[in-house]
Amino acid sequence: MASAKTVYIGIIGAGGVGKCFINQLAQLAVRRPAPKLVLCYIATSKKSLYHADYKPIDIASSVHELTTASVGAPPALPELVKYLSSVPAGAKSILIDNTSSQDVAESYPLFLRKGVSVITANKKAFSDSYQLWQDIFSAAAESGAKVYHESSCGAGLPVISTINELVATGDEVTRIEGVFSGTMSFLFNSFAPTEGSGGKWSAEVKKAKELGYTEPDPRDDLNGLDVARKLTILARLAGLKVESPTSFPVESLIPKELESVASGDEFLEKLPEFDAQMEEVKTTAEKEGKVVRFVGSIDVPAGKVKVGLEKFDRSHPIAALKGSDNIISFYTKRYGSNPLIIQGAGAGGEVTAMGVTGDLLKVLSQI
Ligand SMILES: NC(=O)c1ccc[n+]([C@@H]2O[C@H](COP(=O)([O-])OP(=O)(O)OC[C@H]3O[C@@H](n4cnc5c(N)ncnc54)[C@H](OP(=O)(O)O)[C@@H]3O)[C@@H](O)[C@H]2O)c1
Repeated sequence: MASAKTVYIGIIGAGGVGKCFINQLAQLAVRRPAPKLVLCYIATSKKSLYHADYKPIDIASSVHELTTASVGAPPALPELVKYLSSVPAGAKSILIDNTSSQDVAESYPLFLRKGVSVITANKKAFSDSYQLWQDIFSAAAESGAKVYHESSCGAGLPVISTINELVATGDEVTRIEGVFSGTMSFLFNSFAPTEGSGGKWSAEVKKAKELGYTEPDPRDDLNGLDVARKLTILARLAGLKVESPTSFPVESLIPKELESVASGDEFLEKLPEFDAQMEEVKTTAEKEGKVVRFVGSIDVPAGKVKVGLEKFDRSHPIAALKGSDNIISFYTKRYGSNPLIIQGAGAGGEVTAMGVTGDLLKVLSQI
C-alpha cells in the first residue's frame, strides 16, 4: 500500500490540551514536511471552522480564527464523519479528539469504520461500556484505520504504549498498581507527607482547588471515578473484560452527607465538619509507621480491580511521590519482583498534548 502524501486532520476541542496540541502540530508540520499535514477542521462545542473544498486552515492562527471569526456551529457528528471520510483521492484523514465529550467518544466507531483514524486524550470511549470498546477496535480492524489514546491514562507518560508492548511481546502482566490522579497525588502528598505532619484534610482540598489542581467541583475528583476510568482502560489492555468503571470497588472520599449538597462551594464550606474521619485514617497509618495514599490496583490473575485508600511504608515509591506526579508500576513475569515503574507529571496541557502528538507520529508512520 502506497503511503499517503497528504494527511487531513480534523480537531475537536481547543481547551487546555487542544491549544497546546495545535502549537505542537504547527511545529511538527514544519519539522516533518512529508506527508503534508493539512488542518481541515477545528471545532469547540459551539463553533467550527472548515471549508467544503478542504482548503487548508493556517494551523498556528487556527484557534484565534475559530474564537474571533464569525463561524458556524459544528455540524452533527455523522456529517463530520462524511466530511473527513471524503477527503481528496489518495489522501488519508485523522480525527483528533481533545474533548471529554461522551457523544464524540461514542462516534469513534463511525469514523473508524469509514477509514478515519482516531487519536484522543479523552478517556470516555475506552472506559465506558465494554460494548463500545469492542465496537471501536472491531471498526478499526475492519477498515484498517488506526486508533491511539496514549493520553487517556497518565497524560503524556508512556503508560498505554508500555502495557501494549508488554502484552504484544508476550510478557505476562500480573499486577498494575499506582497513583493515577494528579489531584489525589497532590492532596495526599500534602495531607500525609513522609516528613512532618501535613495539614487538615479540608484545608488541603481547599488549597488544591485554589491552585487549580481540582475540577471546579472537587467532588468530581474525590469520587474516584476518574481513577476508576483509567484502571478500566489498563485492566482491559491487560486482558480483563471489565464491564465499566462502576463494576468494581471504588472508594469515594466524599462524605455521604455531602454527596447531594448543591454546589462545590457549599461542599468546601461543610467539609471541615468531616475532618476527623480523614484524620483518623492518617493517624492509624502513622501508628504503623506508614502513610496513606489513594491508589488503584489491578490483580490480573485474580481478575480484581480496585480503587481507594491504602497504607504504604514511608520508603515505598508510592509514598515518596512528590507534588502532583503519577506513578504506575507494572509487575510482569519478565520483570519479576522489581516492577517496571513509570513516574512523572500525569496532567498539564503540554505533556498531555505530547501524548497526542506522539500518537499522531505513530499513525503517520502507518498510513
Ligand atoms: N488537562 C489535563 O491535564 C489532561 C490530562 C490528561 C487527559 N486530559 C483529557 O484531555 C481532554 C481535554 O482536556 P482539557 O483540559 O483540554 O479540557 P478543556 O480545557 O475543558 O477543553 C475541552 C475542549 O473541548 C471542547 N468540547 C467539549 N465538548 C465538545 C463537543 N461535544 N464538541 C466539540 N467540542 C467540545 C470545549 O469547547 P467549549 O469550550 O466550547 O466547551 C473545549 O474547547 C479531556 O478528555 C481530559 O480528560 C486532560
